[in-house]
Amino acid sequence: MKNKIIILLTVLTLAAKADEGMWMPQLIAALNISDMKKNGFKLTAEQIYSINKASMKDGVAIFGGGCTAEVISEKGLILTNHHCGYSSIAGLSSVANDYLKNGYWAMSSKEELYCKDLTVTFIKRIEDVTSKILENIKSGYSEIQRDSAVQSNVRLLEKKTKEEYGYDTFIRGFYYGNEYYLFVTETFRDVRLVGTPPESIGKFGGETDNWMWPRHNADFSMFRIYAGKDNKPADYSAENIPYKPIHSFPISLKGVEKGDFTMVYGFPGRTQEYLTSYAVDLIQNQQDPVRVELREKRLAIMDVDMKKNDTLRLMYANRYAGIANYYKKWSGEMTGLKKSNAIQTKQQFEKQFITLVSADPAKKEKYSNLLSQFKKVYEEYGPLSKQYDYFTEGLMGIDGMRMAAGFQLVFAELKKKREGKENKFDQRYKETRPIIPFKNFNKETDRKLCMAMLDVFVKNIEKSLRPVYLDSLITVYNGDTKALTDFLYNNSSFIDNTKAALMYNDFEKNAQLYERDPMYMLASAIVKHYQKAVIPQVNYYELQIAEMQKEYMKALRENVKDKKFYPDANGTLRVTFGKMADYKPRDGVEYSPYTTIDGLVEKNRTGLEDYYVKPRLLELYEKKDFGSYADKNGKLRIAFTGSNHTTGGNSGSPVLNAKGELIGTNFDRNWEGTMSDIMYNGSFCRNIVLDVRFTLWVIDKYAGAGYLLNEMKLVK
Ligand code: ARG
Ligand code: GLU
Repeated sequence: MKNKIIILLTVLTLAAKADEGMWMPQLIAALNISDMKKNGFKLTAEQIYSINKASMKDGVAIFGGGCTAEVISEKGLILTNHHCGYSSIAGLSSVANDYLKNGYWAMSSKEELYCKDLTVTFIKRIEDVTSKILENIKSGYSEIQRDSAVQSNVRLLEKKTKEEYGYDTFIRGFYYGNEYYLFVTETFRDVRLVGTPPESIGKFGGETDNWMWPRHNADFSMFRIYAGKDNKPADYSAENIPYKPIHSFPISLKGVEKGDFTMVYGFPGRTQEYLTSYAVDLIQNQQDPVRVELREKRLAIMDVDMKKNDTLRLMYANRYAGIANYYKKWSGEMTGLKKSNAIQTKQQFEKQFITLVSADPAKKEKYSNLLSQFKKVYEEYGPLSKQYDYFTEGLMGIDGMRMAAGFQLVFAELKKKREGKENKFDQRYKETRPIIPFKNFNKETDRKLCMAMLDVFVKNIEKSLRPVYLDSLITVYNGDTKALTDFLYNNSSFIDNTKAALMYNDFEKNAQLYERDPMYMLASAIVKHYQKAVIPQVNYYELQIAEMQKEYMKALRENVKDKKFYPDANGTLRVTFGKMADYKPRDGVEYSPYTTIDGLVEKNRTGLEDYYVKPRLLELYEKKDFGSYADKNGKLRIAFTGSNHTTGGNSGSPVLNAKGELIGTNFDRNWEGTMSDIMYNGSFCRNIVLDVRFTLWVIDKYAGAGYLLNEMKLVK
């Protein structure tokens, strides 16, 4: 027995690969620093995170909605990805000044462009508040009681600490709510665009190369944080001055080689590393395939129309990119899970876990029951999740359906208004009513999307589970989804520029008529059906699963003693470390861990549209003027791969060497390794990094904005 347990422990330990883990910075001193040092790290834990002294954490920020940025000068200059700055750059662009297409470089601080609604947030300190959040939670609470008590404790403590500290705060659950941490934050609201390369460089390779290696895009853009005279956050004002940061990263020109220590400091969004085999089965065999299939159909339809002319291409380009991004991610994820036998690995782990705890019969029974409960809950949750995916990725993937459904609230407010009750009709109507002509909507493209989505819906969702009204229409049209679609698209006012313009002339007066519009009737019936019959049940099961995961997580941490458990990513500050590393995508193929500008030109010569670059880049390439940015062989490197465990949200994160100097900016992962959100595998999961030397070369030689380098600390 004893022997067996020893063997088991080694198996369980082996599951924790050296490079796996997204660690909380305030716990590095206790948990990871010796490991990091063994791997080559040269600094102290306090230089990574400290609340008393300046440390690296003061140079890492949440950029906009969900990216990371790093401070690279004493004057508040920050670096992030091009795809993270994208919406701000697009917002500043017009047909006459198209900064996406042409790039933009401020040649002095006066030319830096304020970005409306863009914020940058630093973390001042992190505190364990577990006992405060969980103190009055009784053990007899139901899942719902517990959840609402926790939520209310979180809100109260956030409010209290905000007053106490004079800073914003937020609290997040870790390890499925076994622990809670408070984040004290400072958010800057005056952030200005300093420079961006043209899309042909920043997004070189487009969808073709997205999630792929080898990679050749310089996915970066630069901004500057402005503050009031007191160096505190302030609303935009011409009087504001560049923010003086607590920490700014020195930039290394020495480069990085295979095997060198690398570390990523940023804000990873979401991972699910502690799921059971039942959950992985659902993701791999149902959720990912369904979502991929539905997105593939929509993308194919958009693609055909986008190729017809520029108007349609521009109309759908941004949305296409958004849909394509996770389409490709999920397809890589399910392929990777299958290829690495993830379900069997989890099953084996679960068996070993039960054996491990079996010395204590009470534990054995408890956790065996927990695992069978998981099985049962997933059996019930699976079919609901499928119905829900066919709604969100299918029916709601029809733009006309979504546009019409949005009017439900408008009609509801109008009803109140008619009844003389207090109402928000005017506001809702203004928010919901689209501008005519529709901006990013083409009726004929959408007609095709609708037919395709109705088709797959009918094929995959059995009659008894369909919204009744939709099903009755399908019966009326004898299952002919084309005829049904034509009926909707030929008669609805909500999706036709001319008819919509007329409708908005007398909307309130003739509202009763418009409430019987065929597209509106169908859309609102569908949404009501899901709101009533599916969404509450989905929520119910998700809450149950969360509670069970909480138990399971606790059990793992208590019983698997020699594994260090890191909490799943949840949009909070994390450190991950590894090396610059190559990988083998499949038998007989080995990838180099870095790319050079030679490869960019090689791709460009294929003539593929995604590999277009402006002539200026090719001219500079011919001159081979790489200055001090070339490696020791005279090659100008663009990107490299590392074994750092990252996910969405890590985009723009600083990638640092053993001395905490910036060597690159994180921007993607390899397609084969996208399963790392569920099961990290150190042998082939890689993060993709833009080599900072290429960033500097573009700024200096391509953009002629070399003056910016003067404010950076370059380590030669
Ligand atoms: N795959 C990267 C990420 O997840 C880059 C996305 C940029 N978007 C795109 N469709 N190319 O964010
Ligand atoms: N491109 C991703 C982002 O926007 C990073 C890639 C990943 O998911 O690791 O955060």
